[in-house]
Amino acid sequence: MRARARAGEDVRADAAGGRWEWAYEGYDPVEERLREALCTLGNGYFATRGAAPEAKADEHHYPGTYAAGCYNRLRSEVAGQQVDNEDMVNLPNWLPLRFRVLDATDAGAGEWWSPDRPGLLEHRQTLDLKGGSLTRELRYEDEAGRRLRVSQQRLVHMGDPHLAALRCTFHAENWSGALEVEAELDASVTNSGVARYRDLSGHHLTALEAGRAAEDLVWVRCRTSNSRITVAVASRLRCSVPEAQLQTAATGPEGRARQRLVLTMRPGESVHVDKTAAVFLSVDRGISEPLDAAVEAAGRAPGFPDLLASHRRAWKHLWERAHIEVPGRTGHILRLHLFHVLQTLSPHTAGLDVGVPARGLHGEAYRGHVFWDELFVLPYLNLHFPEVSKALLTYRHRRLPAACRNAEQAGRIGAMYPWQSGSDGREETQVLHLNPRSRRWLPDHSRLQHHVGSAIAYNVWRYAETTGDREFLHTKGAEILLQIARFWSGVAEYDLESDRYRIRGVVGPDEYHEQYPGAAAPGVDDNAYTNVTASWVLTRALELLRELPQPRKDHLLADMTLGREELQRWEEVSRRLRVPFHQGVISQFDGYEKLAELDWEGYRARYGEVRRLDRILEAEGDSVNRYQASKQADALILGYLFRPAELAEIFRRLGYRLDEATWNRTVDFYLPRTTHGSTLSGLVHGWLLSRERRPEAWRYMEEALLGDVADVQGGTTPEGIHLGAMSGTLDLVQRGLTGLEVRDDILHVDPAPVPELCTYGFSLRFREHWGVSVQVRSGTLRVRLPASERSPLRFAVGHRVVTLQPGETRTFEWDQLLG
Ligand code: BGC
Repeated sequence: MRARARAGEDVRADAAGGRWEWAYEGYDPVEERLREALCTLGNGYFATRGAAPEAKADEHHYPGTYAAGCYNRLRSEVAGQQVDNEDMVNLPNWLPLRFRVLDATDAGAGEWWSPDRPGLLEHRQTLDLKGGSLTRELRYEDEAGRRLRVSQQRLVHMGDPHLAALRCTFHAENWSGALEVEAELDASVTNSGVARYRDLSGHHLTALEAGRAAEDLVWVRCRTSNSRITVAVASRLRCSVPEAQLQTAATGPEGRARQRLVLTMRPGESVHVDKTAAVFLSVDRGISEPLDAAVEAAGRAPGFPDLLASHRRAWKHLWERAHIEVPGRTGHILRLHLFHVLQTLSPHTAGLDVGVPARGLHGEAYRGHVFWDELFVLPYLNLHFPEVSKALLTYRHRRLPAACRNAEQAGRIGAMYPWQSGSDGREETQVLHLNPRSRRWLPDHSRLQHHVGSAIAYNVWRYAETTGDREFLHTKGAEILLQIARFWSGVAEYDLESDRYRIRGVVGPDEYHEQYPGAAAPGVDDNAYTNVTASWVLTRALELLRELPQPRKDHLLADMTLGREELQRWEEVSRRLRVPFHQGVISQFDGYEKLAELDWEGYRARYGEVRRLDRILEAEGDSVNRYQASKQADALILGYLFRPAELAEIFRRLGYRLDEATWNRTVDFYLPRTTHGSTLSGLVHGWLLSRERRPEAWRYMEEALLGDVADVQGGTTPEGIHLGAMSGTLDLVQRGLTGLEVRDDILHVDPAPVPELCTYGFSLRFREHWGVSVQVRSGTLRVRLPASERSPLRFAVGHRVVTLQPGETRTFEWDQLLG
C-alpha cells in the first residue's frame, strides 16, 4: 500500500482539541526516514527515532537511539588520508518487536510481518504532541484472508528520563490461532544513517554482552570504543494474557537479547504486549553500575497505563511553561517545532553536561555536534526554561580551558571556541567533506568560522539580560565573555593604510566563501558579520568590567593577567574594526564586489534547485568562491541580532553611519544573491523583512516553517531536524513579531505585524513571574500577569512604561503600539 501524501500537507487536525496531532496516513517507504525523524520521541536525556518496531536499518528504515552528550571518536581512511571523527553514538536499539502468524498453511504466511510486504490494508501513524506519544495503527490481511489489527503506542518518558515503553495491541478480526511475538534488544547497531558518511567507520560499540535478569527481563551491555562509556539497556516484556508462553534467548557476543511470546488469538479479542525499557550510561550521575540501574529501573517500572499517565503529566507541565497558540497550519507546525525543541532540550538537560545538537538527538547528520545554532535557540529558552539555557552555557564554560588551548595552539590568545564541538571542546569539524554530486572528498575550511565565539558571548549577555542572573554573568559568564573578547582583540591586526583593525582569514556564516579565488590560503578578510559582532563583544566585555563588583574584577584581571594596556587595546579595537562597504551597501567581506555575478537564471534553468550551489559548481569543476552568491544571510544576520537602533549604535561606535537607507540597500543587495542553502536563512530573512514591514516577509517565514516538515533542503531532515530553525520560528512569533525584549530589567514590546499572522498568543516566564500571558488579536495586545505575592512587572510600550500588578491584565491598542 502506498498512500503518498504531499510533503507539508500530510498533517491532520484533531478537530476536538485543536491541532495537537501530527499524523501520516498510509505507508510510503520513500518517506519513511523523514517520518522517522519528525516522529522521534525524546526527553532531553535520550531520544529514539520514530522507526517501525519491526524495522531493521535498511534503505528505507533507520531505527536509532541516541543519548545527549554520548560521543565516540573513530579513525577512518578517506581519499588516502586518515581522519578522526567524533560522533553521537547510535545506542542499542530497544525498540524491536515483530510478529507473525504461527499456524500458517499457505505460501508466504509464517514470515515476520512487515509493511513492505503485501497485505497492508491500513497504516496510520500519529504523533500526539500534547501527550508525547507515537501511535501506529495498522490492519493487515494475509493470503489466507486472516485480518489482524495492530495498534502500537510508544513513549520516551518525560518524567523518568531513563525509561521508554511500547505497547502493542493485537486484535484478530476474523480468525483464531497462534501469533508469535518477538521482542529484542540489539546492541549490534552502527552509525550508518547518513549516506555521505558511509565511507567512514561507524562501529562505535564494543564489548557487547547480553543476558537475562529475570523471567521477563533481558538486558544488553556494551561500551563505546574510545570514550569508554558503558551503555546498558534492560527490557521487560509483559502480556495481558497470563497463559502466554515466554521464552528468552540472549546471545552475548552478538549483543542481542530476545524474548519470544506465543499468543492465542480469538476473534474479537485484544491482547496487549508491553515492552518497557531502561537506558543508563556509566556517565550518569547517581548510579554505580549502569547495568544494575537499568535492570532495576525496567523491573520496577509501573505498567504501561501508569507510565503513560505520568508521562502525559510531565508533558502537560512542559506545555504549560511553553504555551503557544497560533491558529491554522502555522500554529500546527509551530507546535511540532516546539515539541522537538522540548524533547531535545528538556528540563532534564539542565542536569547534563551537553550543548545544543544542531540536528536534534536523533540524526547522525553533523554527528550530533554543537555549532553556533544555539544563537537561534537560547533566546527562546531564556523566556521559558532559563535553567536549561544556563546549563547549555555551562557546557561552554566547562570547555573554556579547551577553547583557550585551541587558541594557543593556533598562536592566538583568549578563547577560540571550536566551530563544531562535541565531548571535550576540541575542534570537531571534519577536515574533509564529501560532495555527493561529484563524489570528491574536499578540504573543509569551515572551522575558520570563529564567529561562533561571538554567538556564545551574545548568548551569555542576552541570558543575563533576560533572566537577571547576575550571579552567572559575574562568574562563569564573565570568564567566557572576557576570554572571547581577548581572542578578538588578539586576532585583530592594525593596518596603517586604512588606520583600522582588520580580522583576516576567517569564514563568515555564509559558508560559500572559504577562500578568495586563486588564493593559496583559506579564509576571507574583514567579514562584516564577524567584525561587527567582535566589536560588540569587546564593548560588552568592557561594560561588564565596569559593572563587576571590585573584588571580583580584581580577581578576574589577576587570573587573566589582564592589564590596563590590553584593556586599552580592547577599547581601541572595539572602535576601529574595519567594516567594508561597496556601492553603498555593507560588503559581506573585503573584496566581495570583485567577485563575479552568477548567471542565476541560467543555473536555475539548468538545475532548478540551486540551494547547494557550492556542490553544483564544484561538480562542474568551478567554485562558488568565485561568485557573489551566499548560502545564507551573512551580514544580514546582524539585523536579526540587533534592533536597528542598537545596530546603528554599534556602527556609530565603529565610526560608520548605518542609516535606514543603507541597511535597506544592503538587504536588497543580498536577497537575490542568496540560495538559502541553510534553514537558518529563511528565518533570518523573515525576521528582518517583518521588522521592515515588507510584504515578502511571510514568504521567508513560511520557508522557515516548512524547512523540516516539507524537507525543503531535499533529503536533509531524514538525517535530523534543524533545531536552530525550529526554535527560531517559535522565537519569530515570540520576539520577532512582538519586538519583545528585555532592557534595563523592563519587558519591552515593539510589534512588527505581518498580515498573514495577526492573531496569536503565548505565555512566558519573566524573572519570578511564571505564566505571563501575551495575546495579540484584532489590533490589540493584551498582557496578563498571573496573581501572586511577587513584585509588579515593568512593561514598556514604546517610550511608555507601565507597571503591572500581579493578577492584572492590560490591553494596548495597536495604533498606540505602533506609535
Ligand atoms: C549551516 C550552519 C549551521 C550548520 C548546523 C550549516 O548548514 O550553514 O550555519 O551551523 O548547518 O546546523
